[in-house]
Amino acid sequence: MEKKVAIVTGASRGIGKAIAEEFAFRRYRLGLISRNKEEIERISDYIREKYDIGCLGFECDVSNKNRVLEVFCNVNEEFGGLDVLINNAGINSRRSLKFLDVKKWFDDFDFNFDGWNDEIRVNLTGVFICSYFGAGFMLNNGVGSIVNISSIKGKEATSSPGYGASKAGVIKLTRDFAKSLAGSGVRVNCIAPGFIDTGMTSELSDEKKKMYKSMIPMGRFGGVDEIAKAAVYFASEDSGYITGETLNVNGGYLMD
Ligand code: NAI
Repeated sequence: MEKKVAIVTGASRGIGKAIAEEFAFRRYRLGLISRNKEEIERISDYIREKYDIGCLGFECDVSNKNRVLEVFCNVNEEFGGLDVLINNAGINSRRSLKFLDVKKWFDDFDFNFDGWNDEIRVNLTGVFICSYFGAGFMLNNGVGSIVNISSIKGKEATSSPGYGASKAGVIKLTRDFAKSLAGSGVRVNCIAPGFIDTGMTSELSDEKKKMYKSMIPMGRFGGVDEIAKAAVYFASEDSGYITGETLNVNGGYLMD
């Protein structure tokens, strides 16, 4: 029976929930994090019952270092260690910079700057905080795997600079943590999903969905389970000689 322990951030829905279920299926004990208390408690109860494993849900903002440390300590005490951290929590404030006229460009500054700050705080600083503390607990055992969720938008140009820069930063942070931790037994890797069927993509208009699908060589959005399987690969010893790497999971949309 698998005795490993994983923390998944942003696990209340979408990709994070699918990742949590994939690890539950493999008998990991789980600490699940989300901003929403009711949602994460509901998902944790559901996973605990369905898979008959230890599973704790925590309301926690990944950019709040004190709360993150408290939650990680709690998981470590309850389950006796930490083997895997999946940094999945993320937001897209959809602050698309569009030049219409000069007055509007200036007027919109605060609106756009708020989006930038939120995305950098959650998507990038949140990954730094969780990786830092997560690595700390893994170093105790001399083994572990951190998996970050970036995005194609961290690679290709986007008119949402906060989202794009934060996700590009996640790819860089992956390499930098991987380098710092190389030789410690802790590996750090990243997944860059393309368009995946989740709450985030359901916000797109039908017209945009159709347009994006036409740009994807495989002609469809990805399933959340397809990201979860990639996360399991990076968490397992099957990827034991891989660190600092970013894997595209995007149906051929970007082949770099
Ligand atoms: P979602 O919006 O369905 O779920 C996001 C999850 O993150 C929720 O559980 C939410 O509570 C949590 N969260 C948000 N801010 C948080 C915070 N400050 N602290 C703790 N938890 C927080 O998102 P989705 O679509 O499942 O995306 C998951 C990850 O995958 C994100 O990092 C996203 O940027 C990335 N991604 C998603 C793609 C897609 O097509 N859905 C494509 C590429 C990347």
